[in-house]
Amino acid sequence: MRGARQLAFTVAAAASFWLAAPAGAQGSPPGAYAQRYAALCAACHGANGRSEMPGTPVLSGQHSFYAITQLFLFREGRRPNEAMSAVAKTMKDEDLRGFSDFIATLPPVPAPAPATPPDAARMTRGQALAQEHKCVFCHGADFSGGQQVPRIAQQREDYLQLTLREFKSGKRVGYTMAMAEAVGRIPNEDLDTLAYYLARFPGRK
Ligand code: HEC
Ligand code: HEC
Repeated sequence: MRGARQLAFTVAAAASFWLAAPAGAQGSPPGAYAQRYAALCAACHGANGRSEMPGTPVLSGQHSFYAITQLFLFREGRRPNEAMSAVAKTMKDEDLRGFSDFIATLPPVPAPAPATPPDAARMTRGQALAQEHKCVFCHGADFSGGQQVPRIAQQREDYLQLTLREFKSGKRVGYTMAMAEAVGRIPNEDLDTLAYYLARFPGRK
């Protein structure tokens, strides 16, 4: 597991010269990105990073390296999304860094208790699919990710469903080919089962 994460990290680092500069090096005061997050991002992603908006990912517990690669892709128009491209378009490199470092300070917020208990058979099937397709190999046995591999445990189900299908169709282009290869041959029905399982992932046993 470590090996795969390390490899993926090395690939990302090769293009990430701007990761070296700490946020604020260019003159933004400490805490500036907390304020800018509250003003510019919280309406969609939630003040604590747990989004309540359909189609909008939870950011709490997300890793700085992952966040900065995605903001970079949005800014360059390589990950197509109108809302996020508009947000990222005017960001300087120091802003990518500042927002990503701020996101990494938001501790994971558990998903709200579901209205109905999870369907046990579907959870078992989701767990088996995550083993079979080696999701655990890169995202970790508890799906908490690391470096530029995202946390996916208890992410919003609607967002997981959407984004897994977009990796498969090629609409979402990753920073690396890892996800396109991982989901390329998985039927949509199984992708939806994975989304169901991950959104309700019960945490460490
Ligand atoms: C109008 C709503 C909206 C606003 C405002 C907004 N976002 Fe987003 N954000 C989204 C949506 C929707 C997505 C998912 C896009 C997709 O499906 O590809 C997203 C995705 C992201 C992602 C990728 C997360 C992941 O799990 O892949 C990051 C990081 C992010 N936003 C950061 C920010 C930051 C930082 C701000 C403020 C500067 C911000 N967003 C403002 C709606 C918004
Ligand atoms: C070889 C390593 C690898 C494997 C195997 C893998 N992933 Fe990923 N996954 C990644 C990386 C790296 C990203 C970040 C995407 C990018 O490169 O932009 C990612 C992104 C994601 C995202 C997007 C999260 C977000 O917040 O937008 C989801 C969901 C996801 N993976 C689910 C899965 C599932 C489900 C499986 C198993 C079917 C899987 N992954 C297998 C490495 C992997």
